[in-house]
Amino acid sequence: MDDLKSKYLSLIADAADESAIEDLRVQAVGKKGEISLKMRELGKMTPEERQVAGPALNALKDEINSALSAKKAALADAALDERLRSEWLDVTLPARDGRVGTIHPISQVTEEVSAIFADMGFAVAEGPQIESDWYNFDALNIPGHHPARAEMDTFYTHRAEGDDRPPHVLRTHTSPVQIRSMEAGGAPIRIICPGRVYRADYDQTHTPMFNQVEGLAIDKDISMANLKWTLEEFFSAYFGARVKTRFRASHFPFTEPSAEVDIQCSWVDGQLKVGEGDGWLEVLGSGMVHPKVLQAAKIDPDQWQGFAFGVGIDRIAMLKYGIPDLRAFFDSDLRWLRHYGFSALQVPTLHGGL
Ligand code: PHE
Repeated sequence: MDDLKSKYLSLIADAADESAIEDLRVQAVGKKGEISLKMRELGKMTPEERQVAGPALNALKDEINSALSAKKAALADAALDERLRSEWLDVTLPARDGRVGTIHPISQVTEEVSAIFADMGFAVAEGPQIESDWYNFDALNIPGHHPARAEMDTFYTHRAEGDDRPPHVLRTHTSPVQIRSMEAGGAPIRIICPGRVYRADYDQTHTPMFNQVEGLAIDKDISMANLKWTLEEFFSAYFGARVKTRFRASHFPFTEPSAEVDIQCSWVDGQLKVGEGDGWLEVLGSGMVHPKVLQAAKIDPDQWQGFAFGVGIDRIAMLKYGIPDLRAFFDSDLRWLRHYGFSALQVPTLHGGL
């Protein structure tokens, strides 16, 4: 027994890994292991012999078992120490620089415009981009034969033969949202409507899809003076400098009187600066809402009046951020988006400066 004991204890001490330990366990105390076989011989002994050999064999078995598990634990500890030594991670290193997307200038400017008008009490309204020709034209005092329909290079939706639903168009401006909002909310009303509009036109300053923001304010005593103040407040907040406006008489079927509005600017060394100098840049159409438009939206023109305007969002984005070509806005070119895009954390606020 002493031989068995010293043989196995030294084998266990020399075991190199967990599988060697397992082999030794089978060899010594497994079903057919050397010690197990010895225990089977107890049956053949005399009771006196058995009284001595039995407890001794049990003690040997226990000793081998605990040597096995102690060695097993020691090997596992050593393996873990070895892993900790060789595998390591410096958690103080800076994070890897993943490419982060940017906010498109149109989205950014739409947010800026909404923040400024919200501050002046205007809510944001929206309407469908596929619009009936009644909302896009008739309700805005543009009857079927009116040249404005042709001028706007309208996209008409395809109609199958026999389809007698009213004709639909891709809206040519955001003005139909005026009608929808007045129908839904009545007067008084103060809203802006940003969104996509469509015209069949394509060159450096025109794309078949572009963005406008409509403004509409209807109340009992609104005048052109309110329009002028509102627009000057808007442009001054947007460009971050006092911006003067110039109103030029114009014509739109849905406003009377109508004015095209220019903002003050200068060209110095080919650089455009808004809010200084003696140059003028046309940026929007506007006027006092035509009585027929109020009527079309079920508002009594004898009681209510107000102004409306429409600005090109892309245009004022180009002016503020020095973006030269309108077409690039819609090319989805990643280099352009990374260059002109905004960080998602750069949320525009009036107090933060737009
Ligand atoms: N809807 C006009 C356009 O797209 C702009 C406009 C809006 C003019 C409101 C007057 C009043 O050109």
